[in-house]
Amino acid sequence: MNREIYLDNSATTRQFDEVTAYMSHIAGNVYGNPSSLHRKGIEAEKHLKKARQAVADSLKVESRDLYFTSGGTEANNLAILGCLEANPRLGRHIITTQVEHPSVLEVFRFLEKKGYKTDFIKVDSFGTIDLDELESKISPETALISIILVNNEIGTVQPVEEIIRIKNSIKRDALIHVDAVQAYCKIPVFPQRAGIDFLSVSSHKIHGPKGVGALYAKRGVKISPVFYGGGQETALRSGTENVPGICGFGMASEMISGSIDENHKKVKTIKEAFIKRLGNLSEDFKMISPGASLPYILNIAFAGLKAEVLLHHLEEFNIFVSTGSACSSRKNTHSHVLKAVKLDSKYIEGAIRFSFSALNSVAEAEETVEALKVIIPKIKIKRGGQAWKK
Ligand SMILES: Cc1ncc(COP(=O)(O)O)c(C=O)c1O
Repeated sequence: MNREIYLDNSATTRQFDEVTAYMSHIAGNVYGNPSSLHRKGIEAEKHLKKARQAVADSLKVESRDLYFTSGGTEANNLAILGCLEANPRLGRHIITTQVEHPSVLEVFRFLEKKGYKTDFIKVDSFGTIDLDELESKISPETALISIILVNNEIGTVQPVEEIIRIKNSIKRDALIHVDAVQAYCKIPVFPQRAGIDFLSVSSHKIHGPKGVGALYAKRGVKISPVFYGGGQETALRSGTENVPGICGFGMASEMISGSIDENHKKVKTIKEAFIKRLGNLSEDFKMISPGASLPYILNIAFAGLKAEVLLHHLEEFNIFVSTGSACSSRKNTHSHVLKAVKLDSKYIEGAIRFSFSALNSVAEAEETVEALKVIIPKIKIKRGGQAWKK
């Protein structure tokens, strides 16, 4: 079986071939240090500039307001830790949601230990933040609100504009950080226009290389580095730049940012075809991704089976998916997102995330559902808890 059906695009995407070729050219030829004063350095600096402009254009921001990082995790950490460090007078209270990525949740837990008051706002069964609770929590002590724009496990899109409006009506100078890693280049994300102070993006979710990301920081809003060194990235993120990675990121963002609507339509057709074919599946399952969620993610929980077992059976068909979030799937705990949406306990062990990209097809979605129809009856847990033999 040569064909592969890769439906784990929220964990990471397949890098565009053009990006791989370009990165290889940069790594082999443009190897100067962008800080060096000679020709090789200037050449590398020129390529960095081009990549910075491409990512900035995709976000409709100025390139000098973008800082390259090692990915979404670092951008999230830098935004949260850096803005609190630089703005101590704003207060010691910080707010986020119960459905954040660990690279925000864990920073909040760390800050809690350091004496910050934290609030994790609850969500409804679709994963949407409770705006009344948010409103009731914002106080003169609130320094920062950090929100995930698109949830990585179930695809819920948070009402960021409404969140900013509420924040501004209570404490205008509290800062807003948006984790846009799963939203970037999938829906329009324009932080400057939206009045966002900090916004994190990552390259490997948009068919760029892994280990590269960027933080947008609104000009004039103070932010401190989290580590110190040679002063690269306007001294906010020291360390010799990952030139091939950044160049690959720039190219991927340029290749994909002009096709947001087209890709959205294509992926929506794929998701709809998947759901339609699922309709005649006689199993007990629940679709967790709400109607209003991003078409790129479809989380389905099957009663009476273990997601990990299903994942490995799908793998035998060369179909690749995730159980919940890839970042937490190796930890043997139930997903905090599925707990937050109060998923019934009979489904919680059987949640599988299918995540699409514009490189997928309707035929792949249909083939995956056909595979599910073959696999599920074989692996369903019988009442006594015993799995049927294959
Ligand atoms: C919503 C969200 N934020 C942050 C990250 C971390 O990004 P990176 O893998 O680039 O560190 C991820 C990765 O899965 C994510 O889905």
